[in-house]
Amino acid sequence: MNFKSILNNYQEQVNLAISKFLPNINDVPPRIHEAMLYSLQAGGKRLRPILLLAAYNLYPSDLDPLAAAVAIECIHTYSLIHDDLPCMDNSILRRGKPTNHIKFNEATALLAGDALLTYAFYLISKHYQHVPQIACKMIYTLSEAAGPSKLIGGQIEDFHHETTSHQDSSINIYEKLDFIHTNKTSALISAALTLGLRLSKVDEEKINIAQKLGFHLGMAFQINDDILDVTSTSASLGKTSGLDQQNKTLTYPKVYGIEKSIKKAQDHTHCAITLCQELGGNNEFLLVLIASLENRNV
Ligand code: IPE
Ligand code: IPE
Ligand code: MG
Ligand code: MG
Ligand code: MG
Repeated sequence: MNFKSILNNYQEQVNLAISKFLPNINDVPPRIHEAMLYSLQAGGKRLRPILLLAAYNLYPSDLDPLAAAVAIECIHTYSLIHDDLPCMDNSILRRGKPTNHIKFNEATALLAGDALLTYAFYLISKHYQHVPQIACKMIYTLSEAAGPSKLIGGQIEDFHHETTSHQDSSINIYEKLDFIHTNKTSALISAALTLGLRLSKVDEEKINIAQKLGFHLGMAFQINDDILDVTSTSASLGKTSGLDQQNKTLTYPKVYGIEKSIKKAQDHTHCAITLCQELGGNNEFLLVLIASLENRNV
């Protein structure tokens, strides 16, 4: 297996599918379509759609997974646009370009995020309506992962900690940190794997394993994101580094220090690999992908 060429091929498939499934930049009203496509086509690792495709390819079926892959990237990109807003992390650089609100303005960034979130559900309901039971389960998984108990729940606790941590000494910082990471990041990564396997039509037992895998992979991913915010530069990350300390964000390096954080990320990666082996199927690529994320520098 040539891991790099399969990864590039997945990335290319996702980029082509984004062009195919998103509205044209000139569609009326062009301003919103330009703002949506600006952030979506700025690049990014495409990790969530690639995880969806890799999970699907463990047990491929007759269904085309690309519309679902684009849908999850729409949700992820919306979450980044809103995360970067001045009222949230207040960042000026994302995917190597000025953030959406810097390029356009705050109101446009807010609406571009809203539009991408909504468009994800439009895509799934449109492209999988011929398999309504699968479509409904995918919408359930995605809306739960992106909703108030998961992604938004993680984001509000992240933000709430930034603004109130100095006032409250009674909270369990370790539990809070894991709540934030589990929900703001692991939930959507779990959903990516789950969607891929729903399209594969596998049994619930495999879906349960994939969700546990997504939890551990997401934790490792966010811990490494926290580490990179401290150890890397804006230029190499393509997004503003050092913001967590500036914003008093609750992170692994802050609570555990860098060395322990690295160890904890490795432990989560190890669990994810074991669960991926348990999933079976054509898991060669997914196994290497999980391991490679441990040493990522973007
Ligand atoms: C950034 O996600 C937000 C986190 C959950 C850490 P990515 O690191 O996947 O960002 P892109 O998609 O490559 O830009
Ligand atoms: C963001 O976490 C997670 C979501 C967007 C849901 P971060 O705030 O750490 O992500 P970056 O570092 O800005 O990419
Ligand atoms: Mg944030
Ligand atoms: Mg941020
Ligand atoms: Mg971060």
